[in-house]
Amino acid sequence: MCGIIGYIGELHAGGQTDGKESSEATDGGKFQSVGGIVHRGLKNLEYRGYDSAGVALVGPTSGLTVTKRSGEVDGLTVPDIPDATHGVGHTRWSTHGPPTDANAHPHTDCVGDVAVVHNGIVENHETLKRELAGHEFTSDTDTEVIPHLIEEELTADPSADLLTAVQRVEGKLEGSYAICAVREDEGEIVVARRGSPLVLGRGEDATFVASDVTAFLEHTRDVTYLEDGDVASLSADGVEIFASGEPVEREIETVTWEADAAEKGGYDHYMRKEIHEQPSSLRQTLAGRLDADGGDVNLDVSFPPGFLADLEEIRIVACGTSYYAGRYAAQLFEELAGVRATVEIASEYEFGAGRTPDRTLVVAVTQSGETADTLGAVRRANAAGARTFAVTNTLGSTVTREVDGTAFIRAGPEIGVAATKTFASQVATLAMLAVAVGRDRGALAAADARSVLEDLQGLPGAIQQVLDDEEQVREAAREYGDSEAFFFVGRALGVPVALEGALKLKEISYDHAEGFAAGELKHGPLALVTPETPVLAVLTDGARAAETMNNVTEAQTRGAPALGCVSAGDEYDTLDVAFDVPDVGIVEPLVANVYLQLFAYHVANEKGRPIDKPRNLAKSVTVE
Ligand code: F6R
Repeated sequence: MCGIIGYIGELHAGGQTDGKESSEATDGGKFQSVGGIVHRGLKNLEYRGYDSAGVALVGPTSGLTVTKRSGEVDGLTVPDIPDATHGVGHTRWSTHGPPTDANAHPHTDCVGDVAVVHNGIVENHETLKRELAGHEFTSDTDTEVIPHLIEEELTADPSADLLTAVQRVEGKLEGSYAICAVREDEGEIVVARRGSPLVLGRGEDATFVASDVTAFLEHTRDVTYLEDGDVASLSADGVEIFASGEPVEREIETVTWEADAAEKGGYDHYMRKEIHEQPSSLRQTLAGRLDADGGDVNLDVSFPPGFLADLEEIRIVACGTSYYAGRYAAQLFEELAGVRATVEIASEYEFGAGRTPDRTLVVAVTQSGETADTLGAVRRANAAGARTFAVTNTLGSTVTREVDGTAFIRAGPEIGVAATKTFASQVATLAMLAVAVGRDRGALAAADARSVLEDLQGLPGAIQQVLDDEEQVREAAREYGDSEAFFFVGRALGVPVALEGALKLKEISYDHAEGFAAGELKHGPLALVTPETPVLAVLTDGARAAETMNNVTEAQTRGAPALGCVSAGDEYDTLDVAFDVPDVGIVEPLVANVYLQLFAYHVANEKGRPIDKPRNLAKSVTVE
């Protein structure tokens, strides 16, 4: 996830060394340079994950100096700018354009007068770019339109200052953003927030701005959280905040977290933070991609003319959680795109006889883009002559270089080893791909597509409702967490969610957990069912709830406690615990999955497991 830091104040003594060396305080408690302070802020943001970094420093004589590169913060040499008074810095996690030097932030206008760092997505950047005809763009990013828009405002109205220009530009941006802008001749940092967090640090000798408090926590604990729509000016005179152009007061709060807790947003574990991030990460996944009126999606992917119409099969290859996302998606491809869809564990995949390479699309689903088993499957598909496609979270990853096309899930970095938010974003991205393929093939009517898009739009809000219900899950985890084993069941779209629920529990709690198609219980596993083996069932829309409930009853008859994720409005009186799932149609089982993630988390937490780094597991499995 991208990170922002900005500093203006008197903490620095004047630079004699490069920013890297001067990012340590001297004996007098002073840092040697503005660059050093900003560089240190970037170091503090490293935990968020990033692929490029950069800074912009401003001084009365030196003007505006921008330094940026792909790669690590340690490799970024921040220049000596002895007269610098303020600066901004950024760590980038690529969403638009690969991780190159040119795509790193800050971005500047045509004449290098204005520099901007940005978190979030400018959804209408293509339209804005067209309106900025004549401007010279040097990157593939959505962000770059912002400094050019500011330049337009400053050129059109020479009396306008940076604050006024940002206020005017802010009204033109669609999407989510947190922006910090600086200008060559102005002694201020101007910041704006909509949908992406920004917090001000209010020190005695300095003011900071950052995407999260970790960036400046060593300097001050007094903070002001900006609200959506706020624009603020940070200068030597202090802070001014505006909402709808009018000055406003915002509360100053004191942060009591230590840096380690702050990195996790106040949660005990990255996994819990990432579970709670799902509403916002899903908004990022969907941003600018749904054409709700037209009943279509814009995933920015293209296929050769006629390829989708002639398609005989979509074969999904993936491992672990990504494989379960693939199993969910295969059902959507068949239902929405009218095409045969199969899923294969990547390490087992062979192209197979009886298939036609040029009528097969092999889709590799991989969060990291580096999983050796999945890359091996892609290579076998390429060797067979099939068209290959990747759905991944990681720009510039190996898989993106080996396939014919890619859709990014835009979930932001996931640090906990157990995949959570990326599963939701994988399924959402694949659902959009299914709509796109269905529309292209004429298999999906616009009205039906609109209904799927409405379900997707409702997903972040529905997941938020589940998160608000966490206490109920914690209680259930306390009551049933010490059982001998756990069985997870569902039908149809509930099967991959049951499998994923079991995987999540076993990997972080070390308890024995198995997922089944509910109908399979009676064909064997029922022999294991006792009062010590709770059954967790997906009883939502899309999971053939009534039939699944019959199988749950079979287990209850053998004494097993039953916990169910139940569609809003449905009631199963015999359940020991019912978790309410808001009504979002085809993605309801995905919402139920959040209950299962929370259940796994709280069972493991009660047992004191090392949740973010379970034994024997790695985040990225680069061996076959
Ligand atoms: C489970 C988990 C793993 C990964 C699997 C594939 O929580 O994270 O099962 O899903 O190793 O990884 P990617 O998606 O990076 O290919």
